[in-house]
Amino acid sequence: MDFKIALIRGDGIGPEVVNEAVKVLDRIGEKFGHSFTYTDVLLGGCAIDACGKPYPDGTTEACKACDAVLLGAVGGPKWGAGAVRPEQGLLAIRKELGLYANLRPASLRPALADASPLKPETTAKGIDLMMVRELTGGIYFGKRDRYDTEDRGVECTDLMAYSEKEIERIGRRAFELARMRRKKVTSVDKANVLETSRLWRSVMHRLAEEYPDVQYEDMLVDNTAMQIVRDPSQFDVVVTENMFGDILSDEASMVTGSIGLLPSASIGDTAPGLYEPIHGSAPDIAGQNKANPIATILSVAMMMRYSFQLPAEADAIETAVDAVLAEGWHTADIAGEGDPVGTVEMGRLICEHI
Ligand code: IPM
Ligand code: MG
Repeated sequence: MDFKIALIRGDGIGPEVVNEAVKVLDRIGEKFGHSFTYTDVLLGGCAIDACGKPYPDGTTEACKACDAVLLGAVGGPKWGAGAVRPEQGLLAIRKELGLYANLRPASLRPALADASPLKPETTAKGIDLMMVRELTGGIYFGKRDRYDTEDRGVECTDLMAYSEKEIERIGRRAFELARMRRKKVTSVDKANVLETSRLWRSVMHRLAEEYPDVQYEDMLVDNTAMQIVRDPSQFDVVVTENMFGDILSDEASMVTGSIGLLPSASIGDTAPGLYEPIHGSAPDIAGQNKANPIATILSVAMMMRYSFQLPAEADAIETAVDAVLAEGWHTADIAGEGDPVGTVEMGRLICEHI
């Protein structure tokens, strides 16, 4: 089959890790008889440098002309936190492509159990959870305001809004995913304080009745943060709103040992989906052939699985990554025996194992 992929190389280590992921795509194409063609799309800091906008005109159309989007990373200290920021490009593409479901799996790769900061008796129970983060609503996209007050100086507001429709569609994704996994959904909210959370909870309860084969529980967000470090093996699918998901997914990634290993998928009801590593642009190591390309390569595996319905190709990539790690090869961010290998070498090793 022929697939068109938009490449958003982005900033910092983004271009380096995308390069290695493209090599893996080409290797998969060769082995399984697919052809992947690529279109470069500018977004983030590099787009600000090129044309003054983090989300240049035509970006939505360029992506929609493709079957999937692969993104490296965007942002960096160079662009600061002023009125025009690279991250605006990221939020714009999520909204414009309707990517409301962000899937962030956090699983312990067998070869790297030692890298987890948790106690061995905790990791021995395994970690394999799927964070399902709502990505186009909530406080990230609500109305913002900044105004002067008479006696309290400047005051600001960020509105958090959720509709039943938005909650229901992300909830459904979570239940459907749970059916393909260990059949458990934990819905995370702050219903003891927030009205949006009380609506969230009531919609989730209604859905839970439609999926009687899936075990369901509510969990408050503060307790969830604690449970992720106490016993992450209890979680299968964790579904939550945008900002809680942002925070908890970083926490969940850390307990697996290396944020450099974790992929993500952002999908909506129509193509293209967007695939990107969870890590950022790591400007401190950019251009030094030190970055770990595995999270981006595993994002390609998610692309095979969720956008192209090619599970065998996804398995081939994941198996190759595990094999390379099991042989002891590691980049500088992952602990291991002997000298670390560079970005390019890691990409080459994974291709060789496919
Ligand atoms: C993420 C990132 C983004 C977010 C930032 C860069 C806007 O932290 O993808 O988790 O908060 O969504
Ligand atoms: Mg984040």
